[in-house]
Amino acid sequence: MPNPAVSSVPAGTAGQRRILVTSALPYANGPIHLGHLLEYIQTDIWVRFQRLRGHQCTYVCADDAHGTAIMLKAKQQGVSSETLIQQVQADHEAAFKGFNIGFDNYHTTHSEENRVLSESVYLACKKAGAIVARDVVQAYDTEKGMFLSDRFIKGTCPRCKTPDQYGDNCEKCSATYAATDLIDPVSVLSGTTPVQKSSKHLFFDLPAFSDFLKQWTRSGTLQPQVANKLAEWLDAGLQAWDISRDAPYFGFRIPEEEEEKYFYVWLDAPIGYMASFKHLCDRRSDLNFDEYWRPGSDTEVYHFIGKDIINFHALFWPAMLSCAGYRMPNGVFAHGFVTVDGMKMSKSRGTFIEASTYLEHLDPEYLRYYFAAKLGAEVDDMDLNLEDFTARVNSDLVGKLVNIASRCAGFVKKYGGRLSPELENPELFEQFAGASETIAGYYDARQYGRAVREIMALADRANQYIAEKAPWQMAKEADREQETLAVCSQGINMFKVLMGWLKPVLPLMAERAEAFLNTTLTWTGKPEPLLDHEVAAFKPLIQRVEPAAMAGLVKPLDSGTEASAGKASDGKASKPKDGKKAGAQSDQTAAAVPSAGDGNTISIDTFMQTDLRVARIEQAELVEGADKLLKIEVSLGDFGPNRFVFAGIRSAYQPDDLKGRLAVLVANLAPRKMKFGISEGMLLAAGDSTGIFLLAPDSGAAPGMQVR
Ligand code: MSP
Ligand code: ZN
Repeated sequence: MPNPAVSSVPAGTAGQRRILVTSALPYANGPIHLGHLLEYIQTDIWVRFQRLRGHQCTYVCADDAHGTAIMLKAKQQGVSSETLIQQVQADHEAAFKGFNIGFDNYHTTHSEENRVLSESVYLACKKAGAIVARDVVQAYDTEKGMFLSDRFIKGTCPRCKTPDQYGDNCEKCSATYAATDLIDPVSVLSGTTPVQKSSKHLFFDLPAFSDFLKQWTRSGTLQPQVANKLAEWLDAGLQAWDISRDAPYFGFRIPEEEEEKYFYVWLDAPIGYMASFKHLCDRRSDLNFDEYWRPGSDTEVYHFIGKDIINFHALFWPAMLSCAGYRMPNGVFAHGFVTVDGMKMSKSRGTFIEASTYLEHLDPEYLRYYFAAKLGAEVDDMDLNLEDFTARVNSDLVGKLVNIASRCAGFVKKYGGRLSPELENPELFEQFAGASETIAGYYDARQYGRAVREIMALADRANQYIAEKAPWQMAKEADREQETLAVCSQGINMFKVLMGWLKPVLPLMAERAEAFLNTTLTWTGKPEPLLDHEVAAFKPLIQRVEPAAMAGLVKPLDSGTEASAGKASDGKASKPKDGKKAGAQSDQTAAAVPSAGDGNTISIDTFMQTDLRVARIEQAELVEGADKLLKIEVSLGDFGPNRFVFAGIRSAYQPDDLKGRLAVLVANLAPRKMKFGISEGMLLAAGDSTGIFLLAPDSGAAPGMQVR
């Protein structure tokens, strides 16, 4: 597909794209947290960017309100499911508003629009012969009168014998198994032993769409990494998808069935995208539902999602859409997961930070900026490093960006409040303006980190200009008023360009800057300077991040009930002492290493550039003609396809002894062409003259996990 976005158009003219964008629908059974926000912020920036470029970009979302978990939670709270989902939706909407997520519509999947659409999609699939019925034997809780999914059964792990493990996998040894393999299984709901019971289920005939999906997933709609992963699944063969659930269930009744059957929540959830859009179209004369959902339309549809729900969006959803006669999405963009200080967010560590907690302490713009600065178009996880967060926001936003305006604004005011009629340095301004389309291209390709880097490099350039000209010196000298004004006007104009580019990321700050600049920041053409233009009084655009406010973010539970996620840096010695943060990084390392600047240290940022991953050795073999090397195939789980590396460990290991063991791989090392083939990474090992010793993570670590 060509990339029309790097063009920009004034609204309402030819060349204007019509784009519909969605983020995944959050479950209506818990609060919005910083993990969720990565997705909504990523999407919102893209939407704001497209709008700023003059395109019609509509952004819809909704709460995902159905399913067993929500039904049980409501029961537990003694309220109806309807009441619970209403309360949660109000909470969600408040959180999104707090972060300035600019939805055009926020709906719920428990809506009339969604019921009608879900039924019609299902019936169309049924008519096309894509729905099949089969009996399924499943665990059943006789006391509660309910079938139990794997998550509602616990028992002893059949492999490592750890008690209290869920019905699908063991948290201790990572074994995966069927719930029927558990030793002494019990229902989580009643504590009774489940029985096996048969029931009729309805299935969507996914295998019938295998050829279609093989082609579609390779059509450029997906990120290459995602397409590769899906190719593995597609090659392994698809299975029919169970789309029905028995009562009791909170969802939509399946039509044309005598028995009481409900749509599985994941059947009607993505249809919720359409339903939310339909709900909007019914109230907006300029939007037409069919123009966005009929095949062959020139409108565009994009879904932003997390990596955990790729199969639903890139297999089930396109298959269903095509079967029911709707258009395909133009893009499904998956992002990785948020970790805090290098570890999975955790309630016991206090790093499961809710949106509302964040907003009590900190400005939403900080988080928007931090995520943007670190986001790329790939599926990599995103670490929110609390120390780095403070440093980055303070240095970039306050130290660089705001600094430009605040150093210049005072003199402009002093000399009449009007920017000079000509640029002091037109070439320099031209250099700024010339970066505009490159930066737009980065935004459009979701490479926000690159856009931010480019913008901040120019901010450095602007600050350098001001420092060289030193208007504060000029102002002291006689007859240099106009010159001082010209330099400061140049500074303000460079600030204006930078702020315009950051408007999708920093809507609030941009609004304050617009008040000061006395203009609306646009991006439909080449940046133009403000000349002979009156500006308003300068007010602070953003505060520094206060360490004290940061301290309020992380509230570890005292109990320590939840075991640590087993990541490398979670050492015992780093137990939180001050209730501030539980990470091993800050306080501890500060004392242990020489202070920065002595030339022997690297910054945490530099270290973080190394992507270390847990890898499982699948195969190892001797390399003919190289008596030190072994050729090793490692798997990285969901992180990506298997890799081959050549490791100089033959003197210490027999190939067969390596199979199945875990190791640590440098995953982002540039591939190296060797005489025997390409090495796609490096396995870490310790060694000296006494021998070579492969590093291995503790048991429980899974292939693909990040090592920090
Ligand atoms: N209800 C489903 C989505 C249905 S879409 C038709 C769901 N809900 S969720 O609340 O669990 O997650 C909503 C989105 O937030 C998902 O895209 C998910 O990947 C994302 N995230 C949830 N936790 C996350 C992190 N810790 N980090 C990054 N994204 C995360 O899935
Ligand atoms: Zn186990």
